[in-house]
Amino acid sequence: MKEFDAAEFSLDENSRLVILSGAGVSADSGLKTFRGQGGLWEGHRVEEVATPEAFDDHPELVIRFYNERRRQLAEVEANDAHRAIAKLQKEMKERCFLVTQNVDDLHERGGAEKVCHMHGELLQLKCMAGHKTRISGEQNMDMRCEECGGYLRPDIVWFGEVPYFIDNIQRKVAECTHFIFTGTSSQVYPAAGLKGLAKQAGAKVLNINLEIDEADWMTDYYIQGKASEVWPKCVEEILSLEYSKA
Ligand code: OAD
Repeated sequence: MKEFDAAEFSLDENSRLVILSGAGVSADSGLKTFRGQGGLWEGHRVEEVATPEAFDDHPELVIRFYNERRRQLAEVEANDAHRAIAKLQKEMKERCFLVTQNVDDLHERGGAEKVCHMHGELLQLKCMAGHKTRISGEQNMDMRCEECGGYLRPDIVWFGEVPYFIDNIQRKVAECTHFIFTGTSSQVYPAAGLKGLAKQAGAKVLNINLEIDEADWMTDYYIQGKASEVWPKCVEEILSLEYSKA
């Protein structure tokens, strides 16, 4: 693994890029990540708030947890990492597939036009029949699905559940020439397995993160730093090279 070099990474007009983002990308906006010191899972037991069983056993607690996440999301803004990723996507158009593990809407607020939310969306509820309802404020126990009157739960992919769009995501990764994973600890599968799939497909793999695992043989390049600081520079380098060739 070596430090990122835009010329070697050689992302150009024929490349197909997949970007997989995680909580670290939203950390500079003020949202907590999940793991590590001060992370969300330090203050909460996953099995108490992020499993279907938890929702069956004590829905009030689960709803309160996600109401709090929604309240915090309303207080923050997108940061320069979200904006830089959106800029790259705008330039590459459909050749850049952005998939996020984040349930916040900061990629969208940063200007991204297409975001694949594999772990669901905080600003959405769903009923057991799968109908979706947008929500910006608090969920309460009395709310019901407008289409079928069913009970509503946060539209979050909980532990033990299958991420959304996984077939399409894996297909995109298997066909990509470049794969960037960023702000993720790569501990939750199947998201964590995507870099291996990309590597197997012959893609160049780049990790942009605060902490870099130097023993990770599946990664070719890295940029170590805070997402909001390093992403703008990375995109600037990629785009200036692409333009200089034209
Ligand atoms: P984690 O909390 O596991 O990892 C966050 C990563 O971001 C770590 O590797 C940090 O080093 C890095 N990081 C922290 N601050 C950063 C910064 N300012 N700039 C760049 N990197 C930074 O979060 P995820 O990997 O996204 O699932 O977690 C995956 C899933 O686990 C989540 O989607 C969530 C959770 O359970 C659900 O809720 C369904």
